[in-house]
Amino acid sequence: MKRFLRSLDGEAVWPPPVWLMRQAGRYLPEYRKVRAAVPDFVALCVNPELATEVTLQPIRRYGFDAAILFSDILMLPWALGHGLEFKEGEGPVLPPLRDEAAVAALDPSRVIDRVQPIMETVRRIRAGLLAEGFADTALIGFAGAPFTVACYMIEGGGSKDFANVRTMAYGQPALFQRLIDTLTDATIEYLSAQVLAGAEALMLFDSWAGVLSALQFRAHVIAPAAKIVSALRARHPGVKLIGFPRLAGVMVGEYGATGVDGVGIDTGADIAVAAELLPAHIAVQGNLDPLAVVAGGAALKTEAESILDAMRGRPFIFNLGHGIVPQTPPEHVAALLEIVRAG
Ligand code: CP3
Repeated sequence: MKRFLRSLDGEAVWPPPVWLMRQAGRYLPEYRKVRAAVPDFVALCVNPELATEVTLQPIRRYGFDAAILFSDILMLPWALGHGLEFKEGEGPVLPPLRDEAAVAALDPSRVIDRVQPIMETVRRIRAGLLAEGFADTALIGFAGAPFTVACYMIEGGGSKDFANVRTMAYGQPALFQRLIDTLTDATIEYLSAQVLAGAEALMLFDSWAGVLSALQFRAHVIAPAAKIVSALRARHPGVKLIGFPRLAGVMVGEYGATGVDGVGIDTGADIAVAAELLPAHIAVQGNLDPLAVVAGGAALKTEAESILDAMRGRPFIFNLGHGIVPQTPPEHVAALLEIVRAG
């Protein structure tokens, strides 16, 4: 079994497998070159040739233990027929979803058709990894978790506090639940198709899980994740699942009961404390501050080694606590890998 998958199987692989969230991206000159030729980000996500190329770029440079499909969590609302645009310097822009008619307009029947180019990318990445000599590199497929995807759909893009989302969850619970249920069912089909196309592990990104109260977290983060995990396990017994309930704080312990094989931990959590809240067989993934990689030098070494020291002896996957940022010097990533590989 591949090193990365062994960790998710509950083994304390050491030195730990390593990959970085947003490892394909703007900090790499070879990515910026592809991006300059395809100004429309959505068009890049549905171009199997170029999406495969940018997925493999960081693997060629650093030999990470896992490649992650190049796409975006917002391609699911796009496939449901909701609008999506990425504006330069502004991030994603979607039509704000605020009423029953907007939820009723989502069309789950078209999802599998519309995501076919992404499935073709998955197949090409698996083949490309083998052809280029990365036989031990695992392929991670992913989706946004229903709550985080709902956040972008309801707000119409990013937000500092997702106030419209939280207000709808309290004030129009039936409407909100209908949206979460629609997204949960579509996510199961979308992730299942990724497994059939060749994804070996799946990650569920719940980037805004931490804005919810404990009651709402149970209803809209834990319950949908548990439903997605059990449906995927029933269909694909061997697939590995990682959940990333970002900023979950002490709720991370309850999140372990969703049935995931691994849990991503954000930078603000003491990773040793988070690990104690989870059963010993669940792999912990994280949680270096992306800005420590920008800084490099002694700060990077101190921070990375403290995580390694805390996680030695348990199933663990080295990663960042959130995505790598565009201003990261690529040579600092190389320095980080030396530190991690020295264990
Ligand atoms: O390398 C990888 O990690 C794989 C591809 C990937 C992207 N986005 C590519 C991307 C993955 C797994 C994501 C996940 C994603 N997308 C999340 C969850 C993780 C997180 O960061 O919290 C979220 C919330 C999104 C939504 C999204 N996509 C935003 C808010 C933005 C704009 C902000 C930004 O960083 O530009 C994006 C754009 C995006 N997605 C880029 C990339 C490489 C940058 C686009 C560009 O090239 O201009």
